[in-house]
Amino acid sequence: MGLSVIILAAGQGTRMRSALPKVLHKLAHKPLVEHVIDRAKQLGAEDIHVVYGHGGDAVPTTLAHCEVDWVKQAQQLGTGHAVAQAIPHIPAERDVLVLYGDVPLTSAETLKNLIQLARQSGFGLLTISLDDAAGYGRILRGDDGRVLRIIEHKDASEAERAITEVNTGILATSRKNLARWLERLDNDNAQGEYYLTDIVAMAVADAIDISTTSPSDEFEVLGVNNKRQLAALERAYQQQQAERLLDGGVTLRDPARIDIRGNVRCGTDVIMDVNLVLEGEIDIGDKVEIGPNCLISNSRIESGARILANCVIENAVVGKDSQVGPFSRLRPETVLAEATHIGNFVEIKKAQIGQGSKVNHLSYVGDAVIGRNVNIGAGTITCNYDGANKHLTEIGDEVFVGSDTQLVAPVKVGAGATIGAGSTITKAVAAGALALSRAKQISKSGWQRPMKKKS
Ligand code: UD1
Ligand code: CA
Repeated sequence: MGLSVIILAAGQGTRMRSALPKVLHKLAHKPLVEHVIDRAKQLGAEDIHVVYGHGGDAVPTTLAHCEVDWVKQAQQLGTGHAVAQAIPHIPAERDVLVLYGDVPLTSAETLKNLIQLARQSGFGLLTISLDDAAGYGRILRGDDGRVLRIIEHKDASEAERAITEVNTGILATSRKNLARWLERLDNDNAQGEYYLTDIVAMAVADAIDISTTSPSDEFEVLGVNNKRQLAALERAYQQQQAERLLDGGVTLRDPARIDIRGNVRCGTDVIMDVNLVLEGEIDIGDKVEIGPNCLISNSRIESGARILANCVIENAVVGKDSQVGPFSRLRPETVLAEATHIGNFVEIKKAQIGQGSKVNHLSYVGDAVIGRNVNIGAGTITCNYDGANKHLTEIGDEVFVGSDTQLVAPVKVGAGATIGAGSTITKAVAAGALALSRAKQISKSGWQRPMKKKS
């Protein structure tokens, strides 16, 4: 049977103290519920139904790119009521897994295990023993150890509250049984809600043996109800990411000081210094070294490249054996070929820098195509914007651009040309030529500087 996943995400999340619906708060730059949706996809779910409600259409609007079925629960009448809203959208012959939009880090292994158990026994329940079980539904077992039912904390007696095994809320069963049981739910309890948890006793009455399993890490079933819990799960997630890199052979100077907000692929012998933030899709080749305090997003760093301290690199390619930084900013559509050098306080935007070329100090290069073995002197600026449109600067191979040059685009500099320091280049420079546009120097000997007037 195929798998359908229902994700409950209609709750308000008052304790987040935020106008944003709880499940849209981000963990590793991705909304909580999107982590859950991605996990459901990873499990091969045929269809995913997200029950939303609080915060209106903000949830489906923000996550319009997720291919899921959005099910509105107008009033939050309980977890059982929420699941019931999704049932009509699910084909008859399906296994159903119920997940929570505010429980972002359940591993695929744990869930696969749970689904497997549900397929064998008819009902799989994810439980965990907690030192402090307050607030959770407790698992009531008979003398033979079989699960009998779940009792919510608010409905539990003193003795029942002493039970440490709790309901994580995550369960799996067949759509057929689920629909049957949900129809019989009532809200005759302490909270006046339709409790999903009541279906456990119904399953037992139908002679189904409830299978239980637990996650390998507690954080897998922890939910987010406030900013402290969100911060704690962010740390758990980051630790997991750091360990994944370490296990893959990456050297991290401090696993506690790297943040990964996306997908990072690394070659061998990669070294990362402290305070590194990696966002989006990142590819890092062999023997890459990244210095302290860098932010890199959606970029490819090819093998042997060195990123020195304090660089910001966004939607860029750093070619093989290149060196960037310290204090360089590579903006979107920057492509550095092999063995380039980009140095201190240099900003590059939408530019190709050819093999072996250097832009070492204090320059702005935007909308440019630069050939091989070009040297761009300190303080060079491509004047790419005329106040209305952007224009291209083209520089041929082996060009030498003297310091403090302005290249007023659109402009072309032919291969092998030389530009004298301090020039403002507004016209094409022929290959092999020397271009100079600065005023001639004058000198007056014995110059007497003005004196300050006496008051
Ligand atoms: C629920 C379980 C409890 C379990 C705990 C684990 C029930 C009755 N109780 O309790 O046994 O230990 O989770 O955290 O199921 N939601 C909706 N619509 C609603 C109500 C809830 O979408 O009408 C969503 C919430 O957004 C949340 C989830 O369901 O993501 C759980 O709801 P919540 O109210 O937090 O349930 P608990 O009382 O914590
Ligand atoms: Ca909860």
